[in-house]
Amino acid sequence: MINKYKSIIESKYNEYDEDVRFDRMSQKFEYLTTMRYIQKYAKKGCKILEIGAGTGRYSIALAKMGYKVTAVELVEKNLQVLQKNAKGVDNLVSMQGDCLDLSMLKDNTFDIVLCLGPMYHLFNKKDKNRAIAESIRVCKPEGVLMFAYLSHASIVWGYGVRKGNLSALAYGINKDGSIKDIPEEIFNSFYTEDFAKQFEKTNTKFLKQVATDGLAPTMREYIDEKMSEKDYNLLLNWHFATCERVDQLGYSSHLLYICKKL
Ligand SMILES: C[S@@+](CC[C@H](N)C(=O)[O-])C[C@H]1O[C@@H](n2cnc3c(N)ncnc32)[C@H](O)[C@@H]1O
Repeated sequence: MINKYKSIIESKYNEYDEDVRFDRMSQKFEYLTTMRYIQKYAKKGCKILEIGAGTGRYSIALAKMGYKVTAVELVEKNLQVLQKNAKGVDNLVSMQGDCLDLSMLKDNTFDIVLCLGPMYHLFNKKDKNRAIAESIRVCKPEGVLMFAYLSHASIVWGYGVRKGNLSALAYGINKDGSIKDIPEEIFNSFYTEDFAKQFEKTNTKFLKQVATDGLAPTMREYIDEKMSEKDYNLLLNWHFATCERVDQLGYSSHLLYICKKL
């Protein structure tokens, strides 16, 4: 199957250095929180698949911890950086591939399936369902799946307010406040209940949703430039204590949907 948006996705990532994505203190919220949940569910030495592995920030760290990692990435440039960064790392196999067609991977293979990014770049229901179905197919029964997605609030506050694009964004806002899926805009977003609805007819059991970074990306300048280390650690610990709460989910920039295959 050919991803008809591949060239749009490629051109976005070709002009962006994905490898520095977690370098700022404000960005580490997402990484540290996601890692906490992966480690909560991953048993020692288990098999992990990362779909849309980017430059390997998660995959390489997990392989170094002793998990057996398979990394699949759509964009050639990101895959090349991943393979360069992974030189000398054991337990890691990487390949080019599309979340819409994982036919190179067998059914019921992985204990943990991570889809941390591809859901941002799917622009119709059929593709979203297909990516979810493929992820479930390759996961073992009783295995755990984690899907990252963006909230509508993050687009409005981050792209709209913080970057001064609110009036440009207005044409893409539906009556209920959700944001239209526009491939050229590259990132899509969800309400938490709509993301969960996509799993209603699948053979999975909901475990939890997690707000992986809250307002940290929106408060980026303050956190990165003005915050003391002591306050940063206080905020991070408060975030860890509250990130599963329903009242924290909707405004978080990134979210994690976690479920188990039945
Ligand atoms: C925001 S990045 C996240 C990378 C990494 N998972 C992380 O969290 O740091 C999303 C990644 O998904 C990849 N991607 C986008 N669409 C994809 C698809 N259809 N299949 C596989 N990977 C895809 C992008 O090329 C990009 O590297």
